[in-house]
Amino acid sequence: MAPRDWENKDLLGLERLSASEIETILDLAASFKLAPPTDLLKGRTVAFIFTEASTRTRSSFEMAAKRLGSDVLSFSPVGSSLSKGETLLDTFLNLQAVGVTHFVVRHERSGVLEDLAPLLKASVINAGDGWHEHPTQALLDLLTLRERWGSFKGKKIVILGDIRHSRVARSNLFALKKLGAKVVFCGPTPLCPDDFASLGATVEHDAEKALKGADAVNVLRLQIERMDQGFVPSLADYALAYQLTPARVELMKPEALVMHPGPINRGVEISSEVADGPRSVILEQVANGVLARMAVLALCEQGRSLA
Ligand code: CP
Repeated sequence: MAPRDWENKDLLGLERLSASEIETILDLAASFKLAPPTDLLKGRTVAFIFTEASTRTRSSFEMAAKRLGSDVLSFSPVGSSLSKGETLLDTFLNLQAVGVTHFVVRHERSGVLEDLAPLLKASVINAGDGWHEHPTQALLDLLTLRERWGSFKGKKIVILGDIRHSRVARSNLFALKKLGAKVVFCGPTPLCPDDFASLGATVEHDAEKALKGADAVNVLRLQIERMDQGFVPSLADYALAYQLTPARVELMKPEALVMHPGPINRGVEISSEVADGPRSVILEQVANGVLARMAVLALCEQGRSLA
């Protein structure tokens, strides 16, 4: 790989990246689709520390690491010395001492990696931290949109659902705004507070109004596991007002795209007819996840070797 314009050893979020850095990741991911490399991470070891469940992120990061020629260290927090009170930093330092060069981390605490990553020589990649950011999810979302559109300028993207608890919504907003798109957050007030407009999104509580004329919708599930109170009266009430149905899809532009980061709760935030329908790019998103994560691993390796 020719050296790219990239100096970061870590990827903790998209809020602090420039538009040019985001485009560097997307360009590299797109180039991997045409000519996949095999040895950019040869002799390196990627470890996964996931304290929350994952299907897509973990499996596609593992595929990405293996396609780049890396070794992969399987590590389970359950059964590790984290359960005996060892700190996350000591866990990182010990795994680094046995040869780990890249950590891919999912953790329930927002911002948990901010103070730890600078203390390590290894790269640290955020695979989702609490409600804060999920940068590689947003990157694969953008890669999927850019393949269709070429550019984000002037596009309207609706993020529909449980915005309050969503790291995906935040990372998408930060990146899409930098690349010139308009982002509308839509959901019931408890799950989509008006003050989220301060992040740079337009907030709209009426799903029909939000979807009118949109170029794409990214549907989010209700994160019941993060709710400590009744944010919605019932799932049936929520579905009535906010479920992405064929009738609501018709309000968007004729060629508009339907996205979902997964996991899907069919019949709640999206109907099966829409999830499996002709506008859906949900499984393209998942496939692009491997490419986006390959690009992130390769660039962080470049940044790590410069540090
Ligand atoms: N979108 C996403 O992060 O999915 P997983 O939780 O399955 O990794």
